[in-house]
Amino acid sequence: MVRSDLVVVEDLKKYFPIRTGLFKAKGSFVHAVDGVSLIIKRGETFGLAGESGCGKSTFARLLLRLIEPTGGKVLFDEVDIFSLSKRELKKIRRRMGIVFQDPKSSLNPRMTIYNILKRPLEIHGLGSSKEEKLNMVLEILEKVGLGEEHLNRYPHELSGGQQQRVSIARAIITKPDFVALDEPTSALDISVQAQILNLLVKLQREFKLTYLFITHNLMVMQYVSDRVGIMYLGKVVEVLNTREELNMGRVYHPYTAFLMLSTPAVDIRERGRNKIIVPGEVPSPINPPSGCRFHPRCPFAKEECRRKEPPVTEIRKGHYVACHFPSVTEEKLTPYVEERMESIRKLWRGES
Ligand SMILES: Nc1ncnc2c1ncn2[C@@H]1O[C@H](COP(=O)(O)OP(=O)(O)O)[C@@H](O)[C@H]1O
Ligand SMILES: [Mg+2]
Repeated sequence: MVRSDLVVVEDLKKYFPIRTGLFKAKGSFVHAVDGVSLIIKRGETFGLAGESGCGKSTFARLLLRLIEPTGGKVLFDEVDIFSLSKRELKKIRRRMGIVFQDPKSSLNPRMTIYNILKRPLEIHGLGSSKEEKLNMVLEILEKVGLGEEHLNRYPHELSGGQQQRVSIARAIITKPDFVALDEPTSALDISVQAQILNLLVKLQREFKLTYLFITHNLMVMQYVSDRVGIMYLGKVVEVLNTREELNMGRVYHPYTAFLMLSTPAVDIRERGRNKIIVPGEVPSPINPPSGCRFHPRCPFAKEECRRKEPPVTEIRKGHYVACHFPSVTEEKLTPYVEERMESIRKLWRGES
């Protein structure tokens, strides 16, 4: 562990017991997060992408210990958060925030904006007087582009974008170091998404925040992330350094390549293009495939892929991949991904 590491994740696992219907199959688990190791560096934005159901939200919740792990470790600024007592955890939570995808369901409909934002201050004993708390709330409201006139409103009286601004304010009012953003713009109108993204970038600079940024939108990923982890069925299959690798064109895992070729790049202009064209269906996380989990969908799979789980290797500096045959992807798919990234960049430049 080096000083620049803020969050260090080691072999993190979360299995949910299955308790549905008549079949209370004992010993059956959803392998939501299944042995993830990675590092989030101080001040960076670490992007996390992958199809729905691959464990992204579960991973984010584990980092804040909102749920208990099945195994593994999370070190937050060198502190093993799963070993903390309730009191110690509460103390360190002041330094962590989370923003969920849907602000409507994450904001209590019966509380005014003022009360919603005052809660974290009360929980963490910040602001000594009523007046001081009010000032802190007003200050953070202004930072997220809202004002005094919103104090006594209820969430349903605000637009989706304004609600998400309140969620963001709530996450940063305690002046955290780290914020997990779980698809923070996915539920918003396209016209509002860019505003919220710009706000998040501005706040990151101003408050020196470290972000875990979960999104399935490729353009968003390019725009905000320093590094990106690609998740598949509870595992991270590739970690790319997007700042250094020309905005993610150079990929070595076939899943990453398919994901990038099929994710909507620019929502507005490619609205019809948001069908994932990764071949096949996501297998059940209850009994994940043997060997490499992607092998049933991989057009290049060989016998070894069915048998043996591929280890994570550093294929270029700071670029990690878990695939037995990364050179096949490099040869057969990477040129198309690079072409696509280039066309996205052109689109983007032409319009901005
Ligand atoms: N509380 C829970 N109980 C049981 N299964 C869950 C629970 N939360 C998530 N899961 C399952 O874990 C897997 C990963 O879910 P999630 O982390 O929400 O994925 P993502 O955010 O990538 O869409 C899914 O199969 C989901 O159904
Ligand atoms: Mg999710």
